[in-house]
Amino acid sequence: MSDLILGIESSCDDTSAAVIRDEYLLSNVMASQEVHRQYGGVVPELASRAHELNIVPCVSTALKNAGIKISEINAIAFTRGPGLLGSLLVGTSFAKGLSLATGKPLVDVNHLQGHILSHFIKQKGKENRSPEFPYLCLLVSGGHTQIVKVNSPLEFEILGHTIDDAVGEAFDKCSKMMGLGYPGGPVVDRLAKTGDPLKFKFAKPRIAGLDYSFSGIKTSLLYSMRDYVREDADFIEKNKEDICASFQKALIDILMEKLIKAVDMTGIKTVAIGGGVSANSGLRNRITDEGVKRGWITFVPEFKFTTDNAAMIAISGLYKYRAGMRCGLDAAPVSRAADMNRLSIL
Ligand code: KG4
Ligand code: ZN
Repeated sequence: MSDLILGIESSCDDTSAAVIRDEYLLSNVMASQEVHRQYGGVVPELASRAHELNIVPCVSTALKNAGIKISEINAIAFTRGPGLLGSLLVGTSFAKGLSLATGKPLVDVNHLQGHILSHFIKQKGKENRSPEFPYLCLLVSGGHTQIVKVNSPLEFEILGHTIDDAVGEAFDKCSKMMGLGYPGGPVVDRLAKTGDPLKFKFAKPRIAGLDYSFSGIKTSLLYSMRDYVREDADFIEKNKEDICASFQKALIDILMEKLIKAVDMTGIKTVAIGGGVSANSGLRNRITDEGVKRGWITFVPEFKFTTDNAAMIAISGLYKYRAGMRCGLDAAPVSRAADMNRLSIL
């Protein structure tokens, strides 16, 4: 008997629906919201409205592309948190309505668990490598930066986390300060490719243990830009590639220093990255190179599974479904869910 799971993701500004049969992906449909670009960041109210418009077409296209009917599904998995409350409400309410209408069970999924388990999504005709447990995952997104010890698909230990901004926010703010638009990560990544990563230096945080901090480096960038621009109004335009390359390198250095420490402390040499910032080419190359140098087994997600997608929600839902975990119609969305284990047992 195979398990067919419909996954629904609506935590921020991407509406997505996916279908998996066991670990194999049958469809993954995404609707990104361009409307936020002009505002330089996600506008929560506009995000919820766009989810309302996108969710029905997304889910019906996902079912159609998978070649299955809703009656064949075993369970509906949806992102319950963390994220923007209005956005989460759309996916959660839609999932509940669908469950009520079809009698299919509901499985609530923590968005972060989804990013971490994205390495387990299998696709026909692909190599489909996935990490063995336990492994370490560097979870890097727009809202979170954590080093997580993954003991099983349902058991996570947060070894370190950011005490202020997430690394994705640092990328976005860098872009905003330089007037390069939103989302910042992909723009900084693109410009960094032709820049000199050693041209500028930024203040590095000194935080104990495995925790991170990114607010200081952001301020360091702001102050150095301000001083340079005072002397030359065109400074940013003339140096944008070098600024991006140097700032990106500084962020990756910070991420890697603690990750290396976590490997040394735990002795776990299976290391993965996940979340929106795992799309960054500099980070992808760096983890691969460090892995070769240090004898790690590394896992870098396929590009389409780095940013928010419902395939990762479906795979997480599959593991919870198999473990007998369900949620009721009273399951309310949760905007903050720092502790993944807490959401898993709801
Ligand atoms: O996981 P995600 O799509 O949403 C959250 O769960 O937060 O992550 C979004 C973050 C944004 O900060 C975005 O700038 C960043 O991921 N990002 C990148 C790249 N692509 C997306 N950061 C650096 N380099 C990229 N190529
Ligand atoms: Zn995400």
